[in-house]
Amino acid sequence: MGQIDGKVAIITGAGSGIGRACAQVLAREGAAIMATDIDTDGLTETARLVDSAGGRITTRHQDVVDEAAWDTVFAETEAAFGAPSILVNNAGIAIAGALADYSLEDWRLQMAVNVDSVFLGTRAAMRAMSGRGGSIINISSVAGLRGAAGASAYCTSKGAVRLFTKAAAVECAQLGTGIRVNSVHPGIIDTPIWQKSITRMTEAMDADRIAALTAHSGANQMDADMIAAQSSPMGRAGRPEEVAELVLFLASDASSYISGQEHVVDGAMTAR
Ligand SMILES: NC(=O)c1ccc[n+]([C@@H]2O[C@H](COP(=O)([O-])OP(=O)(O)OC[C@H]3O[C@@H](n4cnc5c(N)ncnc54)[C@H](O)[C@@H]3O)[C@@H](O)[C@H]2O)c1
Repeated sequence: MGQIDGKVAIITGAGSGIGRACAQVLAREGAAIMATDIDTDGLTETARLVDSAGGRITTRHQDVVDEAAWDTVFAETEAAFGAPSILVNNAGIAIAGALADYSLEDWRLQMAVNVDSVFLGTRAAMRAMSGRGGSIINISSVAGLRGAAGASAYCTSKGAVRLFTKAAAVECAQLGTGIRVNSVHPGIIDTPIWQKSITRMTEAMDADRIAALTAHSGANQMDADMIAAQSSPMGRAGRPEEVAELVLFLASDASSYISGQEHVVDGAMTAR
């Protein structure tokens, strides 16, 4: 018997990385999965992986900043599998760059994809799950707990997710909705977003700035693997499934008295 047998989960950004791992782990434990993303090829691969392991999954194109699409996603999920009781707000982007050169356009895009989406998803889930109960898991970051050079917009967006989660959790509890809301804060996880943000930083900055930034990370160059190894006391980046196992716990009834909390999965990065 799986830990979340019979439950129905919506996972955004499920065409890659942590979202794909969440789809695999939650399906392994018995949930039916609605996997959404703007990357339809990625979704096809996620569906193939879940299908071949015997899980139940359907996929759908969804841009998480499109307000109208949220109601459709919940309606289609219910039509396919029954009422959803798990939402993983995972889709996100990281637009790295030096603060002095950062454009307002990039700032607004960063906030829209990482923060507006979490508000829209949580609101839709509260409307759909109220009274029946459920679990909303918002993927923040260690960047939502502390600052990082070259990541001011990303840190701001993930910090907003952290506090939004707490406010939503209190409101859900006091209204008697039966819905729990938690945030998950991964450290450096080996997925495309991490590699891409390092590449972007390298392209956007001159050599002096890169040297100044990497000196503080303990690495001597802008190399994604090296920074991951130096940043984590465990000496390596995390794997997407190591985040997904935490998401599974928060999605399951084993965490029935846990809400409004920030859960860190970072190989002890923020412990020192
Ligand atoms: N990888 C890390 O080191 C790390 C660390 C902390 C937090 N996170 C967070 O984890 C989450 C997942 O990231 P990941 O590491 O799996 O990266 P990823 O790039 O592998 O996956 C992100 C997914 O989100 C999708 N996406 C982007 N914009 C979207 C939009 N507007 N609508 C729908 N989908 C969209 C992408 O297509 C992609 O499939 C993100 O919120 C990220 O900020 C990642």
